[in-house]
This record gives sequence, structure tokens and C-alpha cells, in this order.
Amino acid sequence: MDEQGEILPPGAASTRIASLELPPLRNAWHVAGWAAEITEGVLARRTVCDERLVLYRGSNGKLVALQDRCAHRWAPLSMGRVEGTGLRCMYHGIKYGSDGHCVELPGQEKAPTALCVRAYPIVERHRLAWVWPGDAARADENLIPDLGMLDDPQWRLYHGHLEYEANYALVNDNLLDLTHVNFLHENTLGRPVQTAAAGEVRPPLARSADAQRLESGVRREGWYPGGRLVATPRGTPDGDLWVRTDFLVPGLYISRGGIYAPGTAAACTGSPPQSRHRALCDGLAVHAVTPMTARRTRYFYLQAFRASDASEEETEAIWQISKEAFLEDVRMIEGQQQNIATHPGLRLAGIAADRSLVMFRGLMKTLLARDK
Ligand code: FES
Ligand SMILES: [Fe+2]
Repeated sequence: MDEQGEILPPGAASTRIASLELPPLRNAWHVAGWAAEITEGVLARRTVCDERLVLYRGSNGKLVALQDRCAHRWAPLSMGRVEGTGLRCMYHGIKYGSDGHCVELPGQEKAPTALCVRAYPIVERHRLAWVWPGDAARADENLIPDLGMLDDPQWRLYHGHLEYEANYALVNDNLLDLTHVNFLHENTLGRPVQTAAAGEVRPPLARSADAQRLESGVRREGWYPGGRLVATPRGTPDGDLWVRTDFLVPGLYISRGGIYAPGTAAACTGSPPQSRHRALCDGLAVHAVTPMTARRTRYFYLQAFRASDASEEETEAIWQISKEAFLEDVRMIEGQQQNIATHPGLRLAGIAADRSLVMFRGLMKTLLARDK
């Protein structure tokens, strides 16, 4: 791809890339954590878009996000103590309310109103804690993507997180181009790949030509007759695979897929399955990519299986394999990041499979231009 985000045909001359790394989009909701992990009394340190935050749950059950730096002598508030709905700095005892204003200053009768730390908009929704590190006046809760399916009790959910020593845009790229699954993950989630000499190379879920631009992301959806979900429980009968993958700004991956009785793809003539079509096996994955610093990224991942499709033992086994696969991504992307960091004049060759990520980078470029 080139600097304008154009696709180069395979084999075309490489084009100079200004930078594969992107600055963070500050005026956006970012996933700061799994909400359930922030229980009362817990002080969670998080860095989101270069902002060092402390998250906690007040006695009223509400999440709070404050700057992790006391206004007095800059002690970390994450070394403090939750008291009611506020937070006390445990260096010299200043207490802040959930809005960041000083409510108590030991030794002084009146709390100085000017003494405050920054409070960030934070919303608990669909099991996740979302923070807005940019201009609080622009934080519209309606912009949080609908992940209501995570509240559906039919799903058996597994989730975790890990960190990358890499710019978040490289992690986004990875999720936007799933042609890597059968190669990078050949020993975990992938399927044996036929070499070109032996036959056609057919990575699944990789029909980048199907990519379509959404208002806030890129969608790929389609039928793969005879296809398999990336992580399919044993004993799932063969059938037609339908997958819809949305990747939304600033870095949210939502994938829904199901295996349907053979012939369903033909009956649907390209359209998604209808409510009358019952999936033989369902899958759901949600991943969130949160920039911490220029070259550090936190990655939240969730996989869900319909509880009626497989035993707990079986889904647990798939989950363990998936976690191994996520580490394969980390090793590869961190290696890629090191090459990028040491070769600033990098030249890349674009291929057709880059289409989704070029579309997404184009969208990010527009949003970043407005992110002042
Ligand atoms: S540094 Fe926090 S009270 Fe002094
Ligand atoms: Fe991967």
C-alpha cells in the first residue's frame, strides 16, 4: 500500500511508506479492562493513549477513572485507598471525589477547590470498562458499539488480555487480515495449507475482496461452503460456514460465525442466514486493541461458544489453544515492530489481502486529522 492508502496490485513495485505506526485516537471510547476485574477496593493502573489512569469502583458500585497522579507532589493515586466514592492519596492524605476535586485536605479546614486531578469519562457496558481519554465534552455514550450479545446467557465466555511491545496499528492490521491464520497459526488454529505446487492455496475467511466500508469500520461477511470455524468443537457436523467480521474504530474486532446445514449457503444466495436457519454450531469472538504508549498496546480477547454446542471440557481445550495462538501473534508483531523501528525508510509491498487494512487505515487517517 502507498501513503494514500491505495492498493498495489500483486507484484507491483514497492512504495515508500511514511510510517506504519499511528498516533492514538484520543477522542474515542477505548477498552480499559474487564469490568468484573475492578471489584470494590481494587485500584487498577492503566495507561490509555499515553494517559496514566487509576480505575476503581466506588461504594455506590460505579466505576471511576482518575489521572494517576496526585496534584500535590505527583504521587501515584493507584497507591492510594478507596474511601466511599472517593480516593485518598496515601502519601500526604489528600482525598479526591469521583469527579477529581479535592474533598479533604488533612490539616486544613477547607478543601481548596482548585486542587483537583483530571477525571475521565468511564462507562461499564457489556462486561467491559470503556474510557474516553480525549475531550470529555465529546464523550457520547451512544458511540460505544453494541456488544449486547455478550449479555446473552446462551454463551459460554472466556476472556483475557495480554500486552504487545508494538504500536496498536500493527495489532489492528493483524485482525484486519485473517489470511495469516493458516500460516502463523498453522499449529494452533489453522488448517494445513496446500502449497501452490500441490494445489490451490485457500486461506479461509480471507476474501478481502468482500470488504465493505462501514460508517465506523470495515465489514467482511460471506458464506464458505464446506468451511470451518477457526475454533470448532469436535463432532460439529460438516456444513456451510457463514462469518461476519466487523472491525470498528479505534480497534474493536467482532466476529460472528455459524455452521449451517449443507445447502444453506445456496438457499441464501449470498445473503446472511435468516432466523429460520438454525446454526449447527455458533462462534463469537470480540477483541479490543487499546493503545497504551507509542509502542505498547494492550489486547483484550474474548471467545464465546454456545453452551449447547459443546461440553465445558471441550471449549476449555479450544480456549487453551486459542491463547497459544494469541502468543504467536505477539511474537510475530513484536518482530515486525522491531524491523519497522530499526528501518525508518521501510518500503512495503502491497498485496490484495491488504485491502481491509488499507480501508481501515484510511478511515483512521480521517479521524486522526480531526482528533485535535
Ligand atoms: S502527593 Fe498526594 S497528598 Fe501529597
Ligand atoms: Fe492471529
